[in-house]
Amino acid sequence: MKQTIITILAFLIIVTLVVLFFTLNQSSREEQRLTTDLQYRTTLLADSLKEKINPYVIYNNKEQIQVIIDQFTEDKRVTTVVLYDNKDNIVASSSAVNLDITNIDTIVTNSMDEDKVSADFIKLDGKKSYVFSLPLHKDTNIIGSLTLIQNAGFIDDRLSEVWKNNLIRLGVQATIIFLAILLTVRFIIYLPIKDLVETIRRSRMHEENTPPKKIPENFIFRPLIKEISHFSKNLYEARMSAKEEAKFNIEKIDSPWTEQRLYEYVKKILNNRNVFVISNREPYIHTKKSGKISYFIPASGMVTAIEPMIEACGGTWIATGSGDADRLVVDKNNKIKVPPDDPKYVLKRVWLTKEEEKRYYYGFSNEGLWPLCHMAHTRPIFREEDWEVYKSVNGKFASIVLNEIKNIEKPVIIIQDYHFSLLPRMIKDSRPDAQIGIFWHIPWPNPEAFGICPFRKEILDGMLGADLIGFHTQLHCNNFIETAGRELEALIDLEQFTITKNTHKSYIKPFPISIAFSDNKDKKTNPEEILRKLDIKKTKYMGIGVDRLDYTKGILERLIAIEQLFKNNPTYKNNFTFVQVAPPSRSQITVYSNLESQVEAEVNRINSLYKSNGWKPIIYLNKHHNHEEINELYRVSNVCLVTSLHDGMNLVSKEFVVARTDEKGVLILSKFAGASRELKDAIIINPYDINQLSESIHKALQMSNLEQTKRMKRMRDALKRNDIYHWSASLLKNLINL
Ligand code: G6P
Repeated sequence: MKQTIITILAFLIIVTLVVLFFTLNQSSREEQRLTTDLQYRTTLLADSLKEKINPYVIYNNKEQIQVIIDQFTEDKRVTTVVLYDNKDNIVASSSAVNLDITNIDTIVTNSMDEDKVSADFIKLDGKKSYVFSLPLHKDTNIIGSLTLIQNAGFIDDRLSEVWKNNLIRLGVQATIIFLAILLTVRFIIYLPIKDLVETIRRSRMHEENTPPKKIPENFIFRPLIKEISHFSKNLYEARMSAKEEAKFNIEKIDSPWTEQRLYEYVKKILNNRNVFVISNREPYIHTKKSGKISYFIPASGMVTAIEPMIEACGGTWIATGSGDADRLVVDKNNKIKVPPDDPKYVLKRVWLTKEEEKRYYYGFSNEGLWPLCHMAHTRPIFREEDWEVYKSVNGKFASIVLNEIKNIEKPVIIIQDYHFSLLPRMIKDSRPDAQIGIFWHIPWPNPEAFGICPFRKEILDGMLGADLIGFHTQLHCNNFIETAGRELEALIDLEQFTITKNTHKSYIKPFPISIAFSDNKDKKTNPEEILRKLDIKKTKYMGIGVDRLDYTKGILERLIAIEQLFKNNPTYKNNFTFVQVAPPSRSQITVYSNLESQVEAEVNRINSLYKSNGWKPIIYLNKHHNHEEINELYRVSNVCLVTSLHDGMNLVSKEFVVARTDEKGVLILSKFAGASRELKDAIIINPYDINQLSESIHKALQMSNLEQTKRMKRMRDALKRNDIYHWSASLLKNLINL
């Protein structure tokens, strides 16, 4: 609507300028015409009066002169006639004259001095008047001047009338145009388009289960309405048959999992039970820039993996609000429906204070538990104060969850990650009927490594409040069971993989997380365009790395291996460009901010050693990129480097494989990432072995197309079988069936 009004106003400004131009033109022509008329008429009148009056002036017959002047003034409707002698004295004038004519002297004097007609427009008594003087003669001598004064006010009156008429016309026209455009836009364009958009939106919506409504007729958009009606009908029919097929496939073990199948499956097994997901990181972060609110999806493997599940369940996701505009978009219960463009579930935001963020998130979670669980040689820091706040934030989330589920019977609660190890117990103690799962997205170390944590017993006890504890790999499950066996008094059943503590049994199971699989080959990427965007003039090969700037990702090791590649194989100079996408992460923690500077320094060092002719070996993009931008980079790269020093799963490796619908490209994958258990056709490396890593890049770049396709096909098959819908279904099934 705002745009429509701006368009109409712009249009009206143009119309107004055009009308003003023409009115100006018309009024100047009118003024010219009226002035010429008046001058011409006055000249004729003056000449005829001069003829009559001159003989009497010669003989100074004042009486007759007065008679002639009065009669003339009356007959010809001239305002005033004045007769001067050659000394500028008035000899006679119209009897009815009541004008102040003192300031016409100059015109009169001029006419006599120059012996010719003198005329001008001047103001007399505030009125515009035309004064016309012509000399009178006796033989060749000037004996006086005859002056006619005409009222010229009618010229201004006429011009005002022209302006008034045109402006009234403009006002009426503008109002009519404004209303006409507004009504036309609203009824002929805006409302029908709104109907069409609504039809497309409803067709697109997952939950649209009713046949599409008839779109109202409109003569302008008839062909479009026809097409969209067909399209939404076809989509509805396709969705219905996919639904039927999904229902039919629910129980079939080997049929592929799809979004639709998960949706049907979840509906069946949940049987109207409510699902709650709890995580620290929220799936959508709202920010404000120059007064405009927008949102982005954070770089988090956990977010990527959990969203398809909660979309299918249509439940509530409770997470920390972290964007500077997060509070501006939620309702009074701190809730917002998301995804913002196609709402499918509710996001409830929890607000943390600066102190809570410092001690619970940066402190205990990321300086304590994160390095404790990742074997990346960064020493964990356990501060008593951080632990206290970690406990209280877990308590804060527990009371929010308990409040949300207070009227809900047997809610299903799925807790994410190491930020909430105490939450399962806190909820279970108050609500034993709640079915609680916790999924640990990062590795679980061996008992010796975990044993250094001063709060290990409380953490294990907190987690064992859950009915199901999930890890990415069997190794992490084994480590957990061993740790619990060492640290707690609990009954361990290695046949069923359960731990029973105080009569409550928890199942420990591996669920290798994944992402959505796509076979859609339509997504084409133009390599030249990508190279242009990256400001790469020319390169034969391209490599890609995508990681949060985290010391567990082995980014420095990767850079050194790339340097070695150039050292050992100089032919790659000008021919191989490595693109590293690395959005900053947890920068308030010293090891992370140090890593940022180290990576940047390494990139600059290697670039300055090897760059030439406008080419440089490493393009470093240290800012957030969305999924589509990253997918484009995956599709044009010859090799993707995943060199984690330790990683729960690592979804970047899976994203690269899913993006390669062309079945080309080589994945180099760390053996310390959970994904290496599934993606066996990657080149598996030890990131600490720089020689091996550097040689693997060379091997990948030289790999034949045939070999690339063979490996990529097998990796894609593995992911097709085990995608995120399969993961979600088996996690939910296991939790609900307990
Ligand atoms: C890992 C964790 C996630 C976390 C993500 C990003 O993948 O398992 O829980 O969200 O890192 O870290 P951040 O601290 O930015 O949430």
